Amino acid sequence: MNKQNDSKQGRCFPQTRRRFFKTAGGAALGAAFIGALPNRNVGGTKPLVKVGLIGCGGRGTGAARDCLEAAKVLNVDLRFNGMADVFEDRLSRSRDSLNALGISVPESRCFLGFDAYQNVMASDSDIVILATPPNYRPKHFQAAVAARKHVFMEKPVAVDPVGCRAIMESGRAAAKANLSVVAGTQRRHELNYRAVAKAVSEGVVGKILGGTIHFCLGGGGIGLKTGRIPDWEWMIRRWGGWCELSGDHIVEQHVHSIDVMNWFLGSHPVSCVSFGERARRNGGNMYDFFSTDYEFPDGVHIHSMCRQIPGCWDRIGQFFRGEDGIVDLTGLVAADRFYVGGADLNSKVSIPKLEGNKNSYTQEHVNLLESVLQGKAINEAQNIAESTMAAIMGRISAYTGQMVTWEQMMTSDFTCTPSAADFENGSVKMPPEYAPIPGGLS
Ligand SMILES: NC(=O)c1ccc[n+]([C@@H]2O[C@H](COP(=O)([O-])OP(=O)(O)OC[C@H]3O[C@@H](n4cnc5c(N)ncnc54)[C@H](O)[C@@H]3O)[C@@H](O)[C@H]2O)c1
Repeated sequence: MNKQNDSKQGRCFPQTRRRFFKTAGGAALGAAFIGALPNRNVGGTKPLVKVGLIGCGGRGTGAARDCLEAAKVLNVDLRFNGMADVFEDRLSRSRDSLNALGISVPESRCFLGFDAYQNVMASDSDIVILATPPNYRPKHFQAAVAARKHVFMEKPVAVDPVGCRAIMESGRAAAKANLSVVAGTQRRHELNYRAVAKAVSEGVVGKILGGTIHFCLGGGGIGLKTGRIPDWEWMIRRWGGWCELSGDHIVEQHVHSIDVMNWFLGSHPVSCVSFGERARRNGGNMYDFFSTDYEFPDGVHIHSMCRQIPGCWDRIGQFFRGEDGIVDLTGLVAADRFYVGGADLNSKVSIPKLEGNKNSYTQEHVNLLESVLQGKAINEAQNIAESTMAAIMGRISAYTGQMVTWEQMMTSDFTCTPSAADFENGSVKMPPEYAPIPGGLS
C-alpha cells in the first residue's frame, strides 16, 4: 500500500481526534489576548500565543526557533500546540530540536500525513507556520485563512500561475478577516535593506532606470533515484531538485532577489524574456542557470541572473541605477555603514541606520507577533505572490523560449503536474529526469 494512504494518515501517534481536542486546553486564554492586548504585558501576565508548525524540516524548525526568539524580545509566552509533516523522522527530529530549546510539543499534537495540516488548522493555534515545499503553499494558506489563523509562510508561495493567483485570493480573504500574513522574504524586515528602501522611496537616487539582480552560488543536482523508494517519497525528500515541487531555483532561491527588485521598483514586471540551461546536474528536472531580462513600466529593464553551479563566480545581491545615483545592495545585510552613490558617482550619501533586531529572521517574527498582539494586521500575501509570479514568469520564458507577459500569467491555467493534490491522492508518477528544451515545451 502506498504510504501516503496508510492508516497513519493525519496522525503521528495513537490517539483519536477527540483526544486531540480534549488535550487542547488554554484556548480561551490564548484567544483572549489576541487582538485585544494593546499592552503586551498587563499586570505582570505575559500574553499567551499558540503556534502550529506545518512542514518540520530545516526551515520550519528554524522558523519555530526564530519565532521563539521574537517571543523573548516581546516578552510573550509562546507555546507550540501542533506539528505536522509527512515523515515521522522529520517530525521527530524537529520535535527533538524544539525540545532542546525548551519547547515541548506533546505527542498528542504531532500529526503525520498529507492531511496532517488539517489537524493543526483545527487546533486552537493563533499563528501557523507554513514551511513545506512551496507546491503545497496555496492549499495550506487557503486552509489557514479559512481557519482564521495568522500566518507566517515561507517563500516562494507557489510553483505555477494558478497557485500564485490562489495566494492572492487567500491574501485578500485574510485582509478582510484582519489576519496577519508575513512571508519569509526576510530582506523586507532587514534593517539595512529597510533603511535604504526608505531613502530610495524618498528620492535619494531619483527614479530607478535599470539594474541587475543576482543569485549565483554553488549547489545543484540531487542525484539519480536509486533503490525501491517510492516516486512520491523520492520527490518530496529531494524536492529541491524538482520543478513541480520547488518551482526551479529561479523561483525557490532567486525569488529573494526578485522580491527586492519588485520592492525597490514599487511594481512588478510587465513582461520578460529569459534563457537558461541544464548544463551539468544529475537527477531531478531543473536548469542550472537562468538569465532574464525583466521589463517594467516606462521601459525600465532589470537584468536578472541566477546560477547553481559550484566553482563559478558567485554573487547574491541587487544593484540599481537611478536618475541621480546608484544603489548597491550586495553585502548589505552584514554592512555596518552603507551609502548610495551620488549624482557624480564619486560622492556618496550616507543612509541613517534603523534601530531594531539585527537578525532579520527574528525581526520578521517580531513584526508578526507585534501585529497580532496589537490587532493591527500586516499582510504580505500580495507582495510575495507577485514576486513568486515574476520568478515563475522567468522560468516559463526560459523553458519555452518565448517572451511571457504579466497579463498571460494572470490568465494562464497552467499548473505543474504532479500537483499537491496528486501527492495527497497517492497518484504520483515521477516525471522524466531531464529539463525542458526551449522551442515549444512548457
Ligand atoms: N527564507 C529563507 O531564507 C529560506 C531558507 C530555506 C528554505 N526556505 C523555504 O522553506 C521551505 C522549506 O524548506 P526546507 O529547507 O525547510 O525544506 P525541508 O525539506 O528541510 O523541509 C520541508 C519539510 O516539509 C515536509 N513536507 C513535505 N510535504 C508536506 C506536506 N504536504 N505536509 C506536511 N509536511 C510536508 C517534509 O517532509 C520536510 O520535513 C521552502 O519553501 C524553502 O524555499 C526559506
